[in-house]
Amino acid sequence: MKDRLLFLGPPGAGKGTQAERLCNAHGLNHLSTGDLLRAEVDAKSALGTEAAELMNKGELVSDSLVLAIVKSRMKSQSGGWVLDGFPRNVNQAKALQILLEELDQQIQGVVLLELDEVALVQRLLSRGRTDDNEDVIRHRLEVYAEQTEPLVDYYLNQGLLLRVPASGAIEEIQTHIEDVLS
Ligand code: AP5
Ligand code: MG
Repeated sequence: MKDRLLFLGPPGAGKGTQAERLCNAHGLNHLSTGDLLRAEVDAKSALGTEAAELMNKGELVSDSLVLAIVKSRMKSQSGGWVLDGFPRNVNQAKALQILLEELDQQIQGVVLLELDEVALVQRLLSRGRTDDNEDVIRHRLEVYAEQTEPLVDYYLNQGLLLRVPASGAIEEIQTHIEDVLS
């Protein structure tokens, strides 16, 4: 199975849910920049304080801050990995490419989880994280469309894109992901 992966998709598509399941099932490292940033916020670190304000507005945190977190994680782990919620724009994707060349590792697949907007908003509203209120969700969707969606073509052009419909039961979606990765 491919085991150096990116999970791409709009907020609420199930990146975190599916990345965690795949990693648990196959012993991969799960690296979610959103989770790592929320851990910094909870720890009230300087970095967390800087990030919290932007996260609560649904804006992206600075590339330099996110890249520092990803680099230190990627350099200290061994085995396969799933990057969830990173890269988030073309600049981050290019920085990742340089890092992976240094580490002599290559992305083997980019799983794109696709779901319509009505379902996305419904899922997020019923979860209720700090940034899951209607206005912030709308803004996260706009930020996704403007900054992150260009990565779909970016990875399509590299022959890495694997599209997976993200509606239906969690187990069914996991099976579909495992199929496209086999
Ligand atoms: P991040 O934490 O990445 O949030 P997000 O992109 O908005 O995505 P979510 O985590 O909300 O959705 P998900 O796709 O993971 O879905 P999930 O599995 O949770 O980022 C948060 C913020 O951090 C950003 O706004 C930004 O400020 C900052 N940040 C993070 N990374 C950054 C980066 N690289 N650069 C700059 N800034 C960055 O599922 C959602 C809900 O649906 C859950 O309740 C789940 O239980 C439920 N669910 C999942 N699957 C199903 C299903 N099949 N059926 C029914 N319910 C389901
Ligand atoms: Mg997530």
